[in-house]
Amino acid sequence: MTDTSTPAPRSPRPRGEGQWGLGYHEPLNAAEQIKKEDDGLNVRERIERIFAPGGFRSIGKQDLRARMRWWGLYTQRKQGVPGERTGSAEPEELEDEFFMMRIRIDGGAMTSDQLRAIAWASERHGRDVADITDRQNVQLHWIRIEDVPSIWERLESVGLSTQEACGDTPRVILGCPLAGVTAEEVFDATPDIRAVAERFVGDPAFSNLPRKYKTSISGCLAGCTNHEINDLSFVGVIGPGEQAGYDLQVGGGLSTNPMFARRLGAFVPRDRVPEVWAGVTGLFREYGYRRSRNHARLKFLVKDWGPERVREVLEREFLERGPLPDGPPPAPAPPGAREHLGVMAQPDGRVAVGFAPRAGRVAGHQLRLAAGLSDAFGSGSVRATAQQKLVIVDVDADRADALVAALDELDLPARGSVFRRSTMACTGIEFCKLAIGETKGRAAWLTAELEERLPGFGEDVRIHVNGCPNSCARFQVADIGLMSALRARPDGTKSDSFLVHLGGTMGEGGAFGRKVRGVKIYAEDAADYVELLLRRYEQRRAGDDSFSSFVNGLDADELAAFAEPAPDHGALR
Ligand code: HEM
Ligand code: SF4
Repeated sequence: MTDTSTPAPRSPRPRGEGQWGLGYHEPLNAAEQIKKEDDGLNVRERIERIFAPGGFRSIGKQDLRARMRWWGLYTQRKQGVPGERTGSAEPEELEDEFFMMRIRIDGGAMTSDQLRAIAWASERHGRDVADITDRQNVQLHWIRIEDVPSIWERLESVGLSTQEACGDTPRVILGCPLAGVTAEEVFDATPDIRAVAERFVGDPAFSNLPRKYKTSISGCLAGCTNHEINDLSFVGVIGPGEQAGYDLQVGGGLSTNPMFARRLGAFVPRDRVPEVWAGVTGLFREYGYRRSRNHARLKFLVKDWGPERVREVLEREFLERGPLPDGPPPAPAPPGAREHLGVMAQPDGRVAVGFAPRAGRVAGHQLRLAAGLSDAFGSGSVRATAQQKLVIVDVDADRADALVAALDELDLPARGSVFRRSTMACTGIEFCKLAIGETKGRAAWLTAELEERLPGFGEDVRIHVNGCPNSCARFQVADIGLMSALRARPDGTKSDSFLVHLGGTMGEGGAFGRKVRGVKIYAEDAADYVELLLRRYEQRRAGDDSFSSFVNGLDADELAAFAEPAPDHGALR
């Protein structure tokens, strides 16, 4: 018989969030259990000893689906599995026997030899595909487990690594690609990036964090590392007593709950960067939430605690040398494009030349040839930006045009159209198991269409194409953010489409893009739709309003009218 009596009152005990620092050491989900059983870093030894010789089938499921990320490896999506299956398919249906391999480039700076090693891995083992990502990594695809040890050997022989490129770890540390070769910086932050990366990447003290953990350390006045959306940011400032150092910011991130980082009001002298990095990261390790993966990023703790408490606990429990002085905010970074592209003057009279692949996608052989150009025209130094671009530095000014022409030959334009400059795309359905839609190819198509339809368009309108809500290509901070979704056709079939977010900006008065309610455009209508938006913007804007400031000046009804698709693009609501 069913018991219909009133249930016993629930205990008022607050639900633990699995925070180690409060004594909760029992794993509360499968990912925490796997990490507890064996540190992800230990998978390296098994890859070399067992999995590479034994092939894909010798890989245990926990290592395959969790720990291999600690070494930058993630199975890629099986070809041909449609976006409709993403939410419901079993892992076996989605995962291919090939890997995506992420190579971390802390600070984004590579030597030509390093770039050649990456190109070799792509050409030899990765079907000549490579992606320059929006976090200064290079991501390879089609990697077989058998080839992983020899790729590591080659990469490590030139000082590159895939360690902690993925997983619940300190990921690549962002830095300005022009660090040390621009006047537009508070100072060159490179030594501080190195100090942190050398000491702490691979340190078992920080290899079991509640979730991924992203750092930016930069003195760039353009804010090109997007410090507002990192877990931990050191933002270059001149602090008390004219001392160079950093404003400390924590708790930024995008995905489904986007948040901008909060200032703690503290000043970090440069010689305290490693200590403070370890302090904030230790605080996250101890107090970060480990119950739900969806609430495990540092931003949720910062939101709940607020910056004052974060600073207090940091200084009391985690800083060896005690409290930090108060410090000034950084100069406001520009709200729009934060890119280092084209021919840019260096303080030493030489120039840096930034150029744009198609939404981050390059071929390994293009990288090999670009490495050669950096030797022939520069000092053999190539930098990756946090916007999926590359920069060759130290070029004699009178040879800049020749380098630009040589890059054009490789389809890597330094003076490309505004659409080539400002379009980004995430990995998408081609290789990503979380994707709903295709991205890189669509972004390239969209760019080409817009170049043809709007040849005179002059403003860097940032168009970011994403394959799902995770926002790896940052749709919430784009002028036009496109996010894949499925939309029913009149015949009942489902079709690729995009949800639209408009007017995302960072910097002073920054705001996440406004979702245009009810508008879902079929993917094949994306070029028509973006063209329409840009033409309306050109007609209606006042003065030199940027796209985002124009959009953000509209009230809800005006925005709906502005973003209304053309009638021949079907029923939209
Ligand atoms: C829950 C899962 C995921 C979330 C919430 C997520 C979220 C994000 C976010 C917000 C960024 C942008 C970071 C920035 O610029 O600051 C990013 C970067 C990126 N994500 Fe994801 N992502 C997820 C899974 C994946 C998967 C499965 C793949 C692909 C196979 C992927 C590929 C990338 C790539 C290539 C980048 C560029 C940055 C990098 O090199 O780390 N992401 N992700
Ligand atoms: S946004 Fe989604 S589809 Fe795109 S790479 Fe990230 S997880 Fe994959």
